Amino acid sequence: MILEIKNLNKMYGKVQALNDFSYRFTEGVYGLLGPNGAGKSTLMNIIADNLKESSGEILFNEVNIKTLGSNFRKILGYMPQQQGLYHNMTLNRFLYYMASLKGMTKSEAEEQIDQILHLVNLEAHANKPLGSFSGGMKQRALIAQALLGNPKILLLDEPTAGLDPKERIRIRNLIAKISFEKIVILATHIVSDIEFIAKEVLFLNKGNLIDFGSPQVLCEKLSNMVYEIISAHDGVTDIAKDYRISNIFKDDKYAYIKVITTKPPFEYKYREAKPNLEDVYLYYFDEDVL
Ligand SMILES: Nc1ncnc2c1ncn2[C@@H]1O[C@H](COP(=O)(O)OP(=O)(O)OP(=O)(O)O)[C@@H](O)[C@H]1O
Ligand SMILES: [Mg+2]
Repeated sequence: MILEIKNLNKMYGKVQALNDFSYRFTEGVYGLLGPNGAGKSTLMNIIADNLKESSGEILFNEVNIKTLGSNFRKILGYMPQQQGLYHNMTLNRFLYYMASLKGMTKSEAEEQIDQILHLVNLEAHANKPLGSFSGGMKQRALIAQALLGNPKILLLDEPTAGLDPKERIRIRNLIAKISFEKIVILATHIVSDIEFIAKEVLFLNKGNLIDFGSPQVLCEKLSNMVYEIISAHDGVTDIAKDYRISNIFKDDKYAYIKVITTKPPFEYKYREAKPNLEDVYLYYFDEDVL
C-alpha cells in the first residue's frame, strides 16, 4: 500500500499553505508536527478531498485518486480538527448516519458499530446525545466515525486536542491498536502523542516539509547537541539568555537545565544528555519557547 503525494501546492490568495510537498506513505503511523499555520490541516483536507489543491497530485497504489473517485473515499477515514457534531443526535444515530454517507449497508453498519463502540470505549453512551458528551468523548466519537468501513487510510487531525492526560494516553493507545495494516497520518502539537507510536515524523513549517524520519533517526541528528547544565537556582535567567532551553528540573540544591546547543556549555558545569523528539521539535521551532 503506497500513498504518494507529489509536488503538492496550495495557495490561499497570497498565502502558500503548502509548498511543493512530496512524500510516500506506506503502512504505519506518521506524525505531522508543526506550529499553528504549518499546513497540517491543509494537507489532510486535500488528501481527504475536502479541499482542492492548487497543483500537484496524489496517487494511491500508483493510481491518481481523482480517477478512483468514491472508491477512494471508501478506503479513507477522516477525523477533522473542528468538532462539528450534531448535538441532538445520539452517538448511535450519528454513526449510522455517517455509515450511510460512506455507502455502507445497514447490516454492515450494525456489525461494525458495535465493534467500534467497544474499541473507543463508548458502548455505555451509545444512546446519549452528542451534546451531552465531554471533550474527550466527542474526540472518541469523531475517531469512531473515522473508523467506519475499516479504512486503509486514516487521517486524524489533532485527535487529542484539549484532552486531559489520561484521555490522551487512552487515545494514543487506541491509535496504536487500530493502526495495523493502515496508513495513519496524525497531526498534533503534542510530541508525546506520537513519539513512541510513529514510524516516521514529518516536521512542517509554513507549508514546507523541513525534516522527516523515524523518531530515532531524528533524535540521533541532535546527538552532541543536547546537554544538561547543573547550576544554582538563580543561574537559570542567565543561561536562558544564551541557550535554547528544552527543560528545567529543580531539586533542593540545583537546577538541571537541558539545553540545545552546537557547542558544549563549557562555562558551566554540565553533562551530555540524551535527545528526545521534543528536543528535535524545539530545535526546529524555538521561537515560541519561554
Ligand atoms: N480557508 C482558508 N482561507 C485562507 N487561508 C487559510 C484557510 N485555511 C488555512 N489558511 C492558511 O493556510 C495556512 C495553513 O493552515 P492550516 O490550517 O493548514 O495549518 P495547521 O498546521 O493545521 O495549523 P493548526 O496547528 O493551527 O491547526 C495558514 O497560514 C492559514 O492561515
Ligand atoms: Mg490544523
